[in-house]
Amino acid sequence: MLSTHEEQESVLRSSFSLSKMGVLGFSSSSSFVGFFVVLSLVINATVLCNGGKTSRFVRKLEATEDMPLDSDVFQVPPGYNAPQQVHITQGDQVGKAVIVSWVTASEPGSNTVLYWTEGSETKYKAKGKVYTYKYFNYTSGYIHHCTIMNLKYNTKYYYVVGIDHTMREFWFVTPPQVGPDVPYTFGLIGDLGQSFDSNKTLNHYELNPQKGMTVLFVGDLSYADNYPNHDNVRWDTWGRFTERSAAYQPWIWTAGNHEIDFNQSIGETKPFKPYSHRYHVPYKASGSTAPFWYSIKRASAYIIVLSSYSAYGKYTPQYKWLEAELPKVNRTETPWLIVLMHCPWYNSYNYHYMEGETMRVMYEPWFVRYNVDVVFAGHVHAYERSERISNVAYNIVNGLCTPVNDQSAPVYITIGDGGNQEGLATNMTEPQPAYSAYREASFGHAIFHIENRSHAYFSWHRNEDGYSVEADSMSFFNRYWHKIDESTH
Ligand SMILES: *[C@@H]1O[C@H](CO)[C@@H](O)[C@H](O)[C@H]1NC(C)=O
Ligand SMILES: *[C@@H]1O[C@H](CO)[C@@H](O)[C@H](O)[C@H]1NC(C)=O
Ligand SMILES: *[C@@H]1O[C@H](CO)[C@@H](O)[C@H](O)[C@H]1NC(C)=O
Ligand SMILES: *[C@@H]1O[C@H](CO)[C@@H](O)[C@H](O)[C@H]1NC(C)=O
Ligand SMILES: *[C@@H]1O[C@H](CO)[C@@H](O)[C@H](O)[C@H]1NC(C)=O
Ligand SMILES: *[C@@H]1O[C@H](CO)[C@@H](O)[C@H](O)[C@H]1NC(C)=O
Ligand SMILES: [Fe+2]
Repeated sequence: MLSTHEEQESVLRSSFSLSKMGVLGFSSSSSFVGFFVVLSLVINATVLCNGGKTSRFVRKLEATEDMPLDSDVFQVPPGYNAPQQVHITQGDQVGKAVIVSWVTASEPGSNTVLYWTEGSETKYKAKGKVYTYKYFNYTSGYIHHCTIMNLKYNTKYYYVVGIDHTMREFWFVTPPQVGPDVPYTFGLIGDLGQSFDSNKTLNHYELNPQKGMTVLFVGDLSYADNYPNHDNVRWDTWGRFTERSAAYQPWIWTAGNHEIDFNQSIGETKPFKPYSHRYHVPYKASGSTAPFWYSIKRASAYIIVLSSYSAYGKYTPQYKWLEAELPKVNRTETPWLIVLMHCPWYNSYNYHYMEGETMRVMYEPWFVRYNVDVVFAGHVHAYERSERISNVAYNIVNGLCTPVNDQSAPVYITIGDGGNQEGLATNMTEPQPAYSAYREASFGHAIFHIENRSHAYFSWHRNEDGYSVEADSMSFFNRYWHKIDESTH
């Protein structure tokens, strides 16, 4: 069945983008849509079927190239040994600490961060540590990580790095004190890479009038491993590219498959080597023993980060940690329970199909028992939002193995559409499964805005639209405080 109103909207948008960009889309399998395509030479359509909505809006088919090394976004900042690739993340469990990271190229230089609150004369100093690593024939610059502690909540801080040679100044705003009714706005980006589309995604995130305050990044950062010998120069360019956002607001990191950088043929057998040297996270604060799974509280949210590419079977460190972690979440303090992982459990694209299945089998009963509000994943280079469903009844012999509506279950959102050089995932399983509420192969980002303990609002923004346009959205009712079906069908 076709929804005429949506059809027309989609047609207008796609004709505009096609003529503007001179690119071709793809044709749908529906015969009515096929007829429509021939008639109007318009390729996109919106089809409603068994499940939710499959939007045929496709930005374009061919993958975009990475931005060349001499691109403006990759420029090394001027001045001797100037700090570059500056980025920050939360530095403790509650948001009173920040990890400041940067790279110097010529010599280690100072490890010190100078910081002060807006309008204050008093300046503070914190001292960090410097690290280097080698990867095949690449030697990293001097990678600095410095944790600034005992910050005041809800306060603007300025900070300076490079105090011995070339100083560079940035700022950030600390989150409000952890509490149940604190509004907060998270951005969501996944699988970003460093193509021309990646630059558009970041640009759209920055210019979205909803103003994300912290990025929840669901894995696959630089895609340096797509280059010969995983050319780690592309880790450096990615760090310089993302500095314009990541130096001013925390990016909460999740490890993806492109962070593994395991390659026996070039003698690199320590998984996550470049990623774990460059991106530090406060994993010890949540009792974790490895930086790939950890948790933070931020405003009214409790965020659990999991690793799809670390062992998660029974008795493994990640399993033990998560088993002990979930009962610790106090929904009176942090009503919103959000989980980040790279590989989605519910994915109806023909890419990475069922890759998340083994982890789903291990952990999904816990997510239902502890009323997780939402799970964000990446990996599949497209967008998809599920209904609240679970599939936890199977016991080998009872044959109960289909997803069912479950108001205790999270909504699963795939947001792997950051725009990397591998291009979009356009091939979907047909028909759309009933659990899938909306899916579309376009690049973009999303915003998760928490209003109070009961209400939050999610919106997905495709790069093709204006900055404020919501291509898909959903009002969230908190699973602990307001456990009411919020789906719109
Ligand atoms: C690393 O090796 C590759 C392939 O042999 C070569 O092209 C590249 O220039 C080398 N890089 C460095 C930094 O030596
Ligand atoms: C990336 O986006 C920024 C912001 O719009 C722009 O100034 C810059 O020229 C872009 N760079 C490339 C290589 O597209
Ligand atoms: C390992 O590195 C070699 C040399 O660059 C490359 O040909 C190969 O594709 C890489 N393998 C993986 C799994 O990344
Ligand atoms: C949960 O958090 C609330 C509010 O901070 C606090 O009053 C309560 O004691 C906490 N409950 C537990 C079991 O720690
Ligand atoms: C889509 O994926 C399916 C399953 O992998 C495959 O059989 C089919 O050929 C693919 N279609 C296209 C157009 O690539
Ligand atoms: C929470 O926010 C929603 C939406 O703005 C509002 O309707 C509701 O009354 C608020 N609830 C509380 C407890 O403040
Ligand atoms: Fe991935």
